[in-house]
Amino acid sequence: MSDRFPPIITGQDRLLHGGDYNPDQWQAHPAAIDEDFRLMPVAGVNIVSVAVFGWARLEPEEGRYAFGWLDEIMDRVAAMGGTVALASPSAARPPWLAKRYRETSRIDRNGRRESYDGRHNHCYSSPVMRARIAAVTGALAERYAAHPALGLWHISNEYGGECFCEYCQAAWWRYLEERYGAIDRLNAAWWADFWGHRFSAWDEITPGDGTLDAQKLDWSRFVTDRTVDFMQHEIAAVRRFSDKPVTSNFMGTFPMLDYRRFAPHIDVIANDWYPAYNVDRDLPTQAAHQGFVHDLMRGLKGGQPWLLMESTPSTTNWQAVGKLKRPGQHRLEGLQAVAHGSDSVMYFQWRKGRGGAEKMHGGVIDHAGGSDARVFREVAALGADLARLGGVRGLPVDARIALVYDWETRWTHEQNMGPARQSPYEQVCVEFYRAAWRRNLPVDVIGRDDPLDGYQVVLAPMLNLVTPALVERVRAFVEAGGSFCTTFLSGMVDECATCHPGGWPGGGLREVLGILVEEHDVLYPDDEQVLEGVGDLAGRYPVQQHCDLFHCQGAEILARYGAQFYAGAPAASVHRVGEGRAYYLGARSAACADALVAAVAAGHDLAAPMPAEDGVSVRRRSGDGVDYAFLLNWTTGTRRAEPGPGWVDAEDGTPVAAALDLGPLASRVLRRG
Ligand code: GLA
Ligand code: ZN
Repeated sequence: MSDRFPPIITGQDRLLHGGDYNPDQWQAHPAAIDEDFRLMPVAGVNIVSVAVFGWARLEPEEGRYAFGWLDEIMDRVAAMGGTVALASPSAARPPWLAKRYRETSRIDRNGRRESYDGRHNHCYSSPVMRARIAAVTGALAERYAAHPALGLWHISNEYGGECFCEYCQAAWWRYLEERYGAIDRLNAAWWADFWGHRFSAWDEITPGDGTLDAQKLDWSRFVTDRTVDFMQHEIAAVRRFSDKPVTSNFMGTFPMLDYRRFAPHIDVIANDWYPAYNVDRDLPTQAAHQGFVHDLMRGLKGGQPWLLMESTPSTTNWQAVGKLKRPGQHRLEGLQAVAHGSDSVMYFQWRKGRGGAEKMHGGVIDHAGGSDARVFREVAALGADLARLGGVRGLPVDARIALVYDWETRWTHEQNMGPARQSPYEQVCVEFYRAAWRRNLPVDVIGRDDPLDGYQVVLAPMLNLVTPALVERVRAFVEAGGSFCTTFLSGMVDECATCHPGGWPGGGLREVLGILVEEHDVLYPDDEQVLEGVGDLAGRYPVQQHCDLFHCQGAEILARYGAQFYAGAPAASVHRVGEGRAYYLGARSAACADALVAAVAAGHDLAAPMPAEDGVSVRRRSGDGVDYAFLLNWTTGTRRAEPGPGWVDAEDGTPVAAALDLGPLASRVLRRG
């Protein structure tokens, strides 16, 4: 059996390159569209996402479709040998729809109907909305099902948001009834006697009430459920006529939706990712965060290649500082996505519009038009490079380390009143991830219900939501020789955000870790705290923000606090269980997390694929006897990597020296076998 995944789009046995294309904005300017089709092949574009916001042009009045302009675009894409990711156009309702059917606009938390404004703003339950989107999507599917350009369905765009209308409320009550069966079961599970919230009927449960943590958690689950339900409704409209693959573009770690619940309903994961250079100015730090998000996407469908559906070819218009990419950075970022399992590099947007809120957002074609521009040249160069790297398509990434990133866990932290105003859940996950990333150890980012077989190390920072079933899987993993690492603020609650009885970590995790947490301290940014490690963790590590005060009950101490009234108390520990070990890092310390991951990985003989200087990321995609290595220099200096013998340059086939220097932001792809 081949290790290689089949092409996402039948017949497209190449890496995809392209992006959002909005000819609906250019209908009065045919010369621009002619230029688009002249320049797309020059830029190596082989896929375009079309009609994402095209509904008003496709259905100018209710029930009257105007497909002529789209026919022409589809034909022209087919003529250039390209493929179309055709959108179901729900991301932007036509103004006539919002005006005629007020129910399609959302009701906010305070019961007010939202006015028509922006996009991504419709109710997910409204029968009219559902009927109209099914009609237009069905009509699109019927018309283009057999069109040679149709490759993929791009269902809606970046779903998000919530609605409190009567339809949504009724769905909420139904959801709760299905989940709990009887109101008193809900009362018990939700700890509803708090502030006298004991309910006697489903329809007393006000959707927006934030009193009960369990209710907030279930509301978040419900919002995901509603959105998935709407997406399935759109997919069903497509499926009446077309069996082409479907996707819907995600937004990385977007906090409102649990993307793991979307994944089973779509054929391929797609992500939109815009690194924020204004937030993390240090490029390697940013690159590690990006690697984490890419690996999260690869993990959503069990390692299957995914699509980088949007990224910017130059700059965004919405970040605090709209920084340009430096020369070389565009290729570096694009190849990074591919190195982490993407089979595409796609952009928002092919051409900058002349008006509207995104006229300043980067595009492959700028307002000046033409191809004589730095951005166009870098995009075109990457397009040519990707064409030479077609052999990478479909190859898997192999990882022995898993990192758990879980939306419900995140919600239990963020919806908790205390211990601090803002939860660092995502940052702490990235701190652990970065420890592996900078050592060039591949990581799979997985969900808390995903299987742990095949991994040697499982990193599960801030694993707050635990159930006995989860803990049993962790115990079996450790007993069989695995290393499991978790941290402060783990195991406090069950799946109803209700504290486990008997203290935390609960649900059996306490026995696996051999510890009992008694208290939790939060530090001001200028409070002094340090970890003093022993053994594998020998050293001193600064602490940020969170400190669990715990007792060892069978575990050995790996570090102690060095300051505050609890100086000398345990701060990190390890517990031997069967053949393996369960580690606990009781404080937030990026430096100690780094040392812990290093020690644990070394204990399993996990090593980088080749020596490389700091700041060079080495990633592999391999299978069927072929091995590709991506060497990505995230620094602005020259850095050395030592692939050793047997490698050729994957793009031109020339032999590669056993040691090579990568210039500033340089990237190389090597092949062996
Ligand atoms: C998102 C959207 C696009 C566009 C870009 C701008 O990813 O899907 O339509 O607005 O942001 O960065
Ligand atoms: Zn609604």
